[in-house]
Order: sequence, then C-alpha cells, then structure tokens
Amino acid sequence: MSEPVVYVDGRFVECSRAAVSIEDRGYQFGDGVYEVARVYDGRPFKMREHLDRLARSARAIRMDLRGLDSLERDALELLHLNGWGNRDLYIQATRGACPRSHCFPRDLEPVVVMTAREAHPYPPALRRQGVAAITLSDDRWARCYIKSISLLSNVLAKQKARDEGAFEAIYIRDGFMSEGSSTNVFIVEGDSLVTPPLTNYILPGITRATVIGLATGCGIPVAEESVSRERLLVADEVFLTGTTTEVMPVVTVDGVRIGCGAPGRTALRLFEQYMRLVTG
Ligand SMILES: Cc1ncc(COP(=O)(O)O)c(C=O)c1O
Repeated sequence: MSEPVVYVDGRFVECSRAAVSIEDRGYQFGDGVYEVARVYDGRPFKMREHLDRLARSARAIRMDLRGLDSLERDALELLHLNGWGNRDLYIQATRGACPRSHCFPRDLEPVVVMTAREAHPYPPALRRQGVAAITLSDDRWARCYIKSISLLSNVLAKQKARDEGAFEAIYIRDGFMSEGSSTNVFIVEGDSLVTPPLTNYILPGITRATVIGLATGCGIPVAEESVSRERLLVADEVFLTGTTTEVMPVVTVDGVRIGCGAPGRTALRLFEQYMRLVTG
C-alpha cells in the first residue's frame, strides 16, 4: 500500500478510507486522551511508559480503557504496515460514540485511533542556534497531568509563540513557570538543573523523566523546585524537553537573552546523551 495505513477501532485501513462517527465524544466534547511516542529506526522509545501514562490518563477521566498489551501489538503491527523507520506514533482513545449529551453512558466502548506518521526531526542547525520562547499566563484547567485531547489553550499558546517568531510558549501560573505548550522546561543554574515539581499543573513528561535520569547518571544535580518568571529570565541556560522536541536549548525568553545567548553546555551535553540513548 502506498498510502499511510492508520488504525481505527481495531482495523488497519488506508488513511483516506478511515472514518469515525461524528457522534464520537472526542469530536463532540474533546472527551479523550492521547499519547505521542517517537520511533527511532523502527524502535519505539519508552513505549511502556507511554502506554502506562495513557492508562493513567484514561483512569483519570473515568474511561474504561482495557487491553494495553493488545494495543501495543496493534501499534507494532501499524509500524510494520507503514515500513518502520523514524515515526511519530500517535495513539488516541476517545470515550466512544453516542447521542450528544454531557453525561456519558457507563457501557460505552472507547474508540482507539493510531497513526504512524514519518517523523520530521528539527534541523540540527536549529538546535545549534537555539530557539526563542515567550511566556504567557497559564489559563488551562487544573488537571494538566492528564494528557487530554482538549488542547485549545495549548494550540492558542503555540500559535501565539509562532506568530511572535518564537518556538515555544512557556506557561506562567501565579508568577511561576509550569511548562511549555507541548514541552517541559528546565533551567540551569551554575552546574545544577532545576525543573518544576510534578503537580496537577504539569504533564509528567517522559522526556523530562529521562533527562533527569541522564543528568543524575552523569553527576549533574537536579532540583524539582518552583521557578519564578524572574528566575527563568536570569538562568544560565534554559531548555525544553518533549518526545518530538527531544532536548531543545532556548536562547531568549520574551526577548531577554539567556546566558550568553547561545545554547548552553549542559543542554547540548544532555541532548547528545539523549540521542545516544534513543538510538540504542
Ligand atoms: C503540555 C505538555 N507538557 C509536556 C510534554 C512533554 O511530554 P513528553 O516528554 O512525555 O512528550 C508534552 C508533550 O506533548 C505536553 O503536551
């Protein structure tokens, strides 16, 4: 098949033939959860962690999502049908289709959709140069630890960043940074890393955890602490982490130069280590 193959509710179909009901609650209410895992050279990275987080997100919204092992097998089959390679594996579980009503029937079967698009890694030059970020007020709900498909705030935040020539928008809640619109944020102070603690206001990023592990492994102290906007602006380094963003150095925040205005040593070192890990 030349067209990408996608997975819809138990079936593998060509993308142009895929369909879901307009009564799906994902479409009607944004009632669903999702994951994005990166596949490097045919090898899904941290697949178990992504599936476990999907299960946690589903539980948090009272969705009865069963059969994670068979979901994993289906994901591998999808990757096989699309020729493996470097891919962004998207897994979405919505609560299912039923006549529109806020309350959900208890016996509704979730609908799972998966795609395995070819990954488009950021050009190495971008990472060598570093990116700009803006800050904006965190106007999201209080359950940001759920990887919900309702992403309107994040969509508007990222678009605002792009419209202002920046790569990412960093949310600020009550004067302290929470996370980026699709990334977690770290600062470097001296030789130490600082990143906000896991609260209900941030997603427990899988890349965040991986980077903390890498840093600890090479003797870099890591503190999970609240970081004010002022502290962010005077950090020696700032970088973003995320499944598709990997480790991305930030060189300006709201137009203020971070450190010497070039990607920092620590961010680049962690990026290298991260790439070593993902490529096995
Ligand atoms: C809001 C938000 N924070 C953080 C992340 C990073 O999470 P991960 O490293 O698991 O991709 C994402 C990823 O999509 C995200 O959407």
